[in-house]
Amino acid sequence: MRRSRRAFLALTVAAALVAASACSKNENKGTTGSGNTVEVMSWWVGGGEEAGLNALIDLLKKQHPEIKFQNSGTSGGAGTNAKAQLATRLSANNPPDSYQRHAGKEISTDIANGDVEDLTYLYEKNGWKNIFPKGLTDLLTSNGKIYSVPVNIHRSNLLWYQPKTLTTLGITAPPKTWSEFLTQAAMIKAKGKTAISVGPAWTQKHLLENVLLGELGTDKYTGLWNGQTDWTSADVVAALQTYTKVLSFSDIASAGADWQPAADRMLEGAAVYNVMGDWMMSYLEGTKKLKYKEDYNVVASPGTDGVYNFLSDSFTLPVGAPHRAAAEIWLTLCGSKEGQDAFNPLKGSVPARTDADKSKYTGYLGWALEQWTSPSTKVVGSLAHGVVAADPVNADIDTALGLFTKSNDANAFATAVKAAVAKNK
Ligand code: GAL
Repeated sequence: MRRSRRAFLALTVAAALVAASACSKNENKGTTGSGNTVEVMSWWVGGGEEAGLNALIDLLKKQHPEIKFQNSGTSGGAGTNAKAQLATRLSANNPPDSYQRHAGKEISTDIANGDVEDLTYLYEKNGWKNIFPKGLTDLLTSNGKIYSVPVNIHRSNLLWYQPKTLTTLGITAPPKTWSEFLTQAAMIKAKGKTAISVGPAWTQKHLLENVLLGELGTDKYTGLWNGQTDWTSADVVAALQTYTKVLSFSDIASAGADWQPAADRMLEGAAVYNVMGDWMMSYLEGTKKLKYKEDYNVVASPGTDGVYNFLSDSFTLPVGAPHRAAAEIWLTLCGSKEGQDAFNPLKGSVPARTDADKSKYTGYLGWALEQWTSPSTKVVGSLAHGVVAADPVNADIDTALGLFTKSNDANAFATAVKAAVAKNK
């Protein structure tokens, strides 16, 4: 069954947020305070991460010089460190004025915990209900209330490479399937190079979701998260075995640091490919000053042509935010056309808004916007970036994946994840 973007987003809503029921923590938390500072927590720090945020900060300064932006960003791709810091602060009733959260199951936990305020009034005030795709706001909604403001749409399922590396190796085109990848990888290895670079655990999970998607297709992939695909079935175990083979051609043994050093190994030519989301564009063009198609190129990761494995960054208003009025101004900027069109071309993402200025999205982003808005594109949600699994489920999967990448025991991993996903309500 083909699933369009709209149909996916509509279906996912029900699965993603049905269980979330907001309980009020208003009585315990903070104030409705005013003041001229807005403290924002994100993990957009350093090369490939901060350029978009800086554009938003500049706009805020221009529009509201009276407000001081307090950047409480913490480095660590996919929020590895920022999320831990945030959890500590939320449990101590010491929230910032706004924090980054992914649309989907990730934010549903905050909604259920009563950590975030209902922002429906901001949506009504700004006309956002008609501007963001309904399916996307549904992923930020519980019981008819909307709890976060999306700034972008990122794509997870991308294979990055340097054309010159392929030429040197006599490879005419990047692989269209994981089976083709494995054939290329054997040849690449024989020539003394690494077929695919990976970074720390979250990037290994990012690769895993895209191998599963490429091997299983969109319907079975989506079924992995809503209980309709049995993790221990033969085709899922076979896809997991493919993942093991893919990793055997990677540099996982020396993987550390973060996604940028893994990208660097691809740029140095030590490794040929890297699977990463399109924040990579910000790193390659912004930090490394490389040109799309000439210096670097990108295609859908193997087996996922015409599929958008999406995620969306959004910002919240925590219950008890110390500077509520300034936070509202920040959130209004995040949701505005001007804000999104300043942020996204530098972030390497396309706008969450449907009325963006298309002329600002060129090169890779021109292709991305075309794919995102095409009615024939099938949309699924990212695991590593919070769409299809809540943080506690992701944490169980992380533990199981840490064992799996050492043991290569696909059956044991499938059994562990099946148990984890059963809690993904
Ligand atoms: C994702 C986030 C992106 C980007 C990426 C790498 O979770 O949504 O905006 O920051 O992590 O850190």
